[in-house]
Amino acid sequence: MTRRAAEFPGRFLDRCRAMVPDFEPFIDSMSRPPRRTVRVNTIKANREQVLGWLRNLDPQPLDWWENALALGQPGVGKRLEHFLGLVYVQEAASMVPPLVLGAEPGETVLDLCAAPGSKTTQLAAMMENTGLVVANDYSQARLRGLVGNVDRAGCLNVVITRMDGVALVRNWPGSCDRVLVDAPCTCEGTVRRSARVLDQWSLDAIARFSQLQKGLAVAGYHALKPGGTMVYSTCTLAPEENEEVVDYLARRFPEAELLPVELPGFRMRQPLAEWNGRRFATGVANCRRILPQDNDTEAFFLALIRRPIEAR
Ligand SMILES: C[S@@+](CC[C@H](N)C(=O)[O-])C[C@H]1O[C@@H](n2cnc3c(N)ncnc32)[C@H](O)[C@@H]1O
Repeated sequence: MTRRAAEFPGRFLDRCRAMVPDFEPFIDSMSRPPRRTVRVNTIKANREQVLGWLRNLDPQPLDWWENALALGQPGVGKRLEHFLGLVYVQEAASMVPPLVLGAEPGETVLDLCAAPGSKTTQLAAMMENTGLVVANDYSQARLRGLVGNVDRAGCLNVVITRMDGVALVRNWPGSCDRVLVDAPCTCEGTVRRSARVLDQWSLDAIARFSQLQKGLAVAGYHALKPGGTMVYSTCTLAPEENEEVVDYLARRFPEAELLPVELPGFRMRQPLAEWNGRRFATGVANCRRILPQDNDTEAFFLALIRRPIEAR
């Protein structure tokens, strides 16, 4: 085991052993720094331009999305291309939830937990700066980053709100073509960036986040128009924050359709069928886990949910 992995909490490692099929490559990836990646901001630039501007940072297009680039050299955060919003510094796995959600120009999209705006700005660009993205977050401190990023990326279709996500949807039910619930979580999947996330790690924290996430997932579903789709995502591994939340949603809304999560060229794993003796609803099998060793990214979890046309 690498030195960094040996510093992870023992209880965390035991849980990972129980939930990850090939533990050694997993923990080896979790112990290495993540690859540097950027997203081409197609509101302001195209891939060929960015490949030219950043050529001395050794940019390599990733094969699962034309606008995702890995950089062989550090320093993009000090480059004019970053300050002008021509590229957005974003971890590769974080680009997947908006791609799975698949927002289209002209739609109404709610990003319920939006700060600091990586996925908001990606959605705005996918929508070609048309339609409406409501980017909401509860945290005043994190909202500053969101405002700055939306401004720098040149997004003209984004409205920013600061509310508890559950309260926001109470005033605005059944209105959205698509909803992203990129939920607050224990961030276990981001240890490659900073092992300090595990300083706050505890089973109590997992239980608290699980409760919060269930409320936000239900709110996200209520915000959907009949026929609308929602992605629930986290950057954590804990089944209580992932499969268990989707299981809760599926049982609360039996009519909800759990659609297969897919992204061609990007490897994703089956979710857990059960955890701690509890079997999850069958539709949960359509969710996907992103493990760090498969695409050299951070870890993520995704569910894709559709509210049927004939919804109650
Ligand atoms: C995983 S982060 C979102 C990252 C963001 N989607 C991105 O891609 O940049 C989760 C966010 O949820 C926010 N949050 C926590 N509780 C919330 C609540 N009750 N309602 C809305 N947002 C909340 C946090 O402030 C945090 O910014």
